[in-house]
Amino acid sequence: MTALTDMADLSIEDGIALITIDNPPVNALSHGVRQGISDGLAQCLADDQVEAIVLICAGRTFIAGADITEFGGPMKEPGLHAVLDDLENASKPVVAAIHGTALGGGLETALCCHYRVCDAGARFGLPEVNLGLLPGGGGTQRLPRVVGAEKALEMMVSGAQIGAAEALQEGLVEEIVEGELRSGAIAFARKVVAEGAPLAKVRDREEKLQSARDNPGLFDDFRKSIARKTRGFLAPESNIRCIEAAVNLPFDEGMAVERKLFQELMRGPQSRAQQYFFFAERQAGKIPDVPRDTAEIPITRVGVIGAGTMGGGISMNMANVGIAVTIIETQQEALDRGLGIIRKNYENTASKGRISSQDVEDRCGLITGSLQMEDLADCDLVIEAVFENMDLKKEIFSKLDGIVKQGAILASNTSALDINEIAAATARPESVIGLHFFSPANVMKLLEIVRGDKTGKEVIKTCMSFAKRIGKKAVLVGVCPGFVGNRILFPRQAQAQKLILEGALPHQVDKVLVEFGMPMGAFQMSDLAGLDIGWNAETSKGESIRDLLCEAGRRGQKTSAGYYDYDEKRTPSPSPVVEEIIRGFSDKAGLALRDISEEEILERCIYPMINEGAKILEEGIAIRASDIDVTWVYGYGWPVYRGGPMHYADSIGLDNVVATLRKYAEQTGDSSWEPAALMVRLAEEGKGFSDL
Ligand SMILES: NC(=O)c1ccc[n+]([C@@H]2O[C@H](COP(=O)([O-])OP(=O)(O)OC[C@H]3O[C@@H](n4cnc5c(N)ncnc54)[C@H](O)[C@@H]3O)[C@@H](O)[C@H]2O)c1
Repeated sequence: MTALTDMADLSIEDGIALITIDNPPVNALSHGVRQGISDGLAQCLADDQVEAIVLICAGRTFIAGADITEFGGPMKEPGLHAVLDDLENASKPVVAAIHGTALGGGLETALCCHYRVCDAGARFGLPEVNLGLLPGGGGTQRLPRVVGAEKALEMMVSGAQIGAAEALQEGLVEEIVEGELRSGAIAFARKVVAEGAPLAKVRDREEKLQSARDNPGLFDDFRKSIARKTRGFLAPESNIRCIEAAVNLPFDEGMAVERKLFQELMRGPQSRAQQYFFFAERQAGKIPDVPRDTAEIPITRVGVIGAGTMGGGISMNMANVGIAVTIIETQQEALDRGLGIIRKNYENTASKGRISSQDVEDRCGLITGSLQMEDLADCDLVIEAVFENMDLKKEIFSKLDGIVKQGAILASNTSALDINEIAAATARPESVIGLHFFSPANVMKLLEIVRGDKTGKEVIKTCMSFAKRIGKKAVLVGVCPGFVGNRILFPRQAQAQKLILEGALPHQVDKVLVEFGMPMGAFQMSDLAGLDIGWNAETSKGESIRDLLCEAGRRGQKTSAGYYDYDEKRTPSPSPVVEEIIRGFSDKAGLALRDISEEEILERCIYPMINEGAKILEEGIAIRASDIDVTWVYGYGWPVYRGGPMHYADSIGLDNVVATLRKYAEQTGDSSWEPAALMVRLAEEGKGFSDL
């Protein structure tokens, strides 16, 4: 075996050369890999002994993509295109031997080989769309030529992977090797040589494109089918346009379209935001003072207290991944209602064909109801989800302290209460932590893990790992009212309220937020949550629009009326009644109405969120700015193509954000607009949150 570079080797076995890539962890297409392939190929072509070449990877996977750290700067020679051209134009057969995942540039490399074989566990995909990009190594032109435009659309626009069996069926691989991949690939290469099989170039293939050429409506139908899911994103459309080019243009012209659209995306803000977010997500798992080797507490039995909205959703979340749950209520009726809703939810999912009726039984079978808190004695983790009331929570934690075995984790799902105060109700505050699920808890991806002053490191480590196990994206936060997510939400909602008193209407405010990319506006969100959360009919004195709406029986979507009117499909429409209530309120308060521009609406909703984020960082409530972004993308649907509120602030420049905040502080005389000291300092230094 000869080393080609520090990332690639060459060996020759009886006429078959093996170029082996070894660039852990995922054999990314770094410079040393490209150089290795290029040099290896040149040697093989010059060596008369070599009859065919196998491109194979060491470690756990085939080439799983580009080296993302090279993005942004010029690529060191040889560039990917040159290497891929060399592969495709090689005068001896090249066979890609694939295990693990052939993703992005990895799959594009494989598509430039003349033949592809894989093991049974191999997976294939072009996930560039998830980074706001398209496959820029010819993948947009070659994949449709191998699997057809329909399948290519599906794979490239979703970024989803397919397995070996499907790849074989689609013609993406010629053979699934039984047994060891290396020897299977060598045997395949020998067969190619023996049969004198042609040097099959994907670029020359046309037959799989025919069905798309015969179906002119294909692309527009596809666009319609994904419109809702991809609203606001640029990359899906660019991917589609490339595949259209593959179908309608000669290969080289299609490649030119790919190059142009790739450059546009690469230079644009969306891919920058999505690449940033890719790293942000990974960063969130790192806790500076909780090392990776911190011991974990094994979690097998989970208890949930409260079978309401959250307790039910949390229990479903556990059952969905096979974890047994005991769920506690104080009254049989409440327990029956809670368990009934869980069953109904599962049955609804089954009726849509997403799970089987056996799954319904299995999952319900994992959830046991009880009226005795003593039944939680053996649980490894107990999650409290009763009413948001400090006295009640303290009483429950004090009881749990006397019941649950030592070493178990005692968690609260409180949205805003002080975890330290709750922990102090026990004699083991080191075991107490906040696990803040978002509603619906079985669906929403975010889990805010709230660290109390005394929470133990093992408890934190266990909860971070447990979050992964139950399919959540965890962000570790500190104690403050509303933690990170809701604390940032509060000032936005407060501004939205002010805006409607000054002349905007709920649907005008919401339109701006939705066009910005949020899944719903401030008022749609309030209607969905229910306007009567924390509202009390007996003490309500019509002191806010919310009071007036609730008093009028408009409590949100559940009553088909809130800030909006709702039809039976829950479609909102602006309500004349609400407009009258709002205008009447402004009138009474002596507020002058004016036309408010969309720009002002956006600034007044978004900039206070950034400012609050800065304060959260100042106080050390979030570990890093990117954690705040992960919270808002996964917990509130902030558009990932804008990175998150803190990345968005960086992208517009902190000096601009500070100037705008000061403008409103001056205009309104409201000191809450004063920019956080941290942001002022960063702006003065010409830095962003990402420099922290
Ligand atoms: N609803 C949300 O969107 C949301 C989101 C995140 C967090 N939370 C938090 O989750 C908690 C629960 O909220 P929810 O919306 O599920 O409330 P909910 O009113 O739907 O459910 C609370 C349940 O707790 C039960 N309960 C009350 N006292 C009990 C006791 N002593 N023992 C056992 N059960 C008891 C009630 O019977 C009820 O079923 C609150 O702290 C809330 O702030 C709510």
